[in-house]
Amino acid sequence: MKDFDLDRYLRASGRVDLTGLAWHRVAEHPLPAEEARCLTYMMDIETHTVVFLRDLLATRAAHDPEVTAFLSCWVYEELWHGEAFSRFLGEAGFDLGPDREEVWADAPFPSRVGRNSWIRRKLLGKAQASHLVTLLGSMVFRDFVALHMTWGAINELSTLGAYQRLIARTNHPVLVDLLTRIIKDERRHFAFYRAQARMRLTHRLGTARAVRWTLDRLWAPAGTGVRPQRETDFVIAWLFAGNDGRVAAEEMDDTIAQLPGFAGSHLAARARGEAIARMGPGFERMRVAAPLAAFRT
Ligand SMILES: [Fe+2]
Ligand SMILES: [Fe+2]
Repeated sequence: MKDFDLDRYLRASGRVDLTGLAWHRVAEHPLPAEEARCLTYMMDIETHTVVFLRDLLATRAAHDPEVTAFLSCWVYEELWHGEAFSRFLGEAGFDLGPDREEVWADAPFPSRVGRNSWIRRKLLGKAQASHLVTLLGSMVFRDFVALHMTWGAINELSTLGAYQRLIARTNHPVLVDLLTRIIKDERRHFAFYRAQARMRLTHRLGTARAVRWTLDRLWAPAGTGVRPQRETDFVIAWLFAGNDGRVAAEEMDDTIAQLPGFAGSHLAARARGEAIARMGPGFERMRVAAPLAAFRT
């Protein structure tokens, strides 16, 4: 694989390095409810990565040793991102439903077992259906791995973009430090998926067109369906609000447009526009809804 040094990634992969992070300073700075709501979503989606992996390993993606080597480390890194957000929210004084478990920087691992079991239980029917669709898609669509890698590139890029937007919007210095460390992993994840997508989209005549066609119709922002649509919309609309948010979404689209067959792609701008429209007019000035405030200790 050109453009990505897999050997180097595999050797360097590990738990996000939080050495010296000022956990004891987290509570000294206010964490607005809007930011906590975004972090809660990010935590839930990072933690859910292993469930996506289960679906993918049931497909022909499992036949490729380079892909499976990457996925083995990738899922491990995402687990620790979820834990890092969980601990940050705990230190900031937020406990979350349904069990309102108390979490702190050095709490036993894994944290929020009750919450994560609850989320997975609620998704059971939907998760089984998506597992079957993925399985069937992989059987009938020869280029399934190309689709998966391109989808992954867009998701990692949008995750990276969302964390950058949160850094831009927050005044919390420890959160900036935490996100800056996590972003380093997300950059590597994006680099892998992009390199794979570049290679596979040009592998066979028609692959890029089929993948583009599918993504234009089926792609939805990372985490869609795992949490209620209102939460996905809130995170996108709030993080990508205003002119800066619009520019950030367009920059993402420009990056994706460099993939073979993706010229003129505007998935990020479209997702942003749809989320803002669903949130309703005046959203940017809106106070955060009560449900999260209820989670505050
Ligand atoms: Fe992550
Ligand atoms: Fe990632």
